[in-house]
Amino acid sequence: MVKNTATSVVTIERFIIEQEKLVPDATGHLSAILYDIALAGKMIANKVRSAGLADILGALNSENVQGEIQQKLDVFANETIIKAMDHTGRLCAMASEEEPDIIPIPDQFKCGPYVLLFDPLDGSSNIDVNVPVGTIFSVMRKITRGHRGEMEDMLQPGRRQVAAGYIIYGSSTMLVYTAGQGVHGFTLDPSIGEFLLSHPDIRMPARGRYLSVNDSYEQFWDESVKALMRRYRGLDGKQKAMNVRYVGSMVADFHRNLLGGGVFAYPANSQSPRGKLRLMYECNPLAFICQEAGGLAFDGTQDILDVQPTELHQRSPIYIGSREDIETARQILAEPLVGVA
Ligand code: AHG
Ligand code: MN
Ligand code: MN
Repeated sequence: MVKNTATSVVTIERFIIEQEKLVPDATGHLSAILYDIALAGKMIANKVRSAGLADILGALNSENVQGEIQQKLDVFANETIIKAMDHTGRLCAMASEEEPDIIPIPDQFKCGPYVLLFDPLDGSSNIDVNVPVGTIFSVMRKITRGHRGEMEDMLQPGRRQVAAGYIIYGSSTMLVYTAGQGVHGFTLDPSIGEFLLSHPDIRMPARGRYLSVNDSYEQFWDESVKALMRRYRGLDGKQKAMNVRYVGSMVADFHRNLLGGGVFAYPANSQSPRGKLRLMYECNPLAFICQEAGGLAFDGTQDILDVQPTELHQRSPIYIGSREDIETARQILAEPLVGVA
């Protein structure tokens, strides 16, 4: 008898369908949203892969709502996601880091019970030097009564997310997501164009090896942040020094720390009192993933997931990663400064 040596592969579609069966009253909408995001991710990955070839590098002359120069791939990624999601009848509105206002569902399409918020291309300043970039997304349930999504549907604390994830366009393309039942990672097999389950049930080590922070802002940090970073670096003699790794794409820094354990920090500083990163498009989705993997995310005062947003594009300081390391941040940032050498 010829032995069948083929290994059983689990595509993202099969995985999502099987996960859905675990939720008794699931309607299928959320599964469809995740699958459509995976499709958009494949299209963006394809473009990112050929970015160096297709004369697509360089900035357009437009600035996004954050006042930063948009790269062409940001625009492509933004439009690709909107077009992949607007006609499906699953969403009632979207919001993107690259758009000033809520993105409505066009009149000709049906509205659904969820909202999608996303950073179409994170780390876009890294594109022209071939460093990993990513897409980050967050899904929440509509809470207003009308047909269309409203600002109130967007401005919900991160704890109300029903799913969140990211796609990292690195040496391979990976999609990592949670729908509240663990964190699962899929690697794109370019030969068949499918995301295959490669990292089931990711758990973040309780203590981390890596510290990811841009310490060129050190001069602008307050004393408690400086004390925390000294602790992480082992300079106060109270813990082993962590290894510093900073890509400058939050997705890539977070992904490494999710797998290897560590902390990503973007503290407030006197030049940017709210830090840089956006609560709705970057901090909340990664905080949900981190929590589901056993880690924590903190804004210097409270859990990121408990922050009540007041505007779509608000920024937040963030300390995110391995549970015990974030507990250290919680403790040191709360300490009175007297005696913190
Ligand atoms: P984006 O490309 O979506 O604007 O995000 C860039 C962000 C984030 O990915 C990264 O961690 C951070 O900016 C880096 O900022 P600094 O250069 O100030 O360290
Ligand atoms: Mn970003
Ligand atoms: Mn971006």
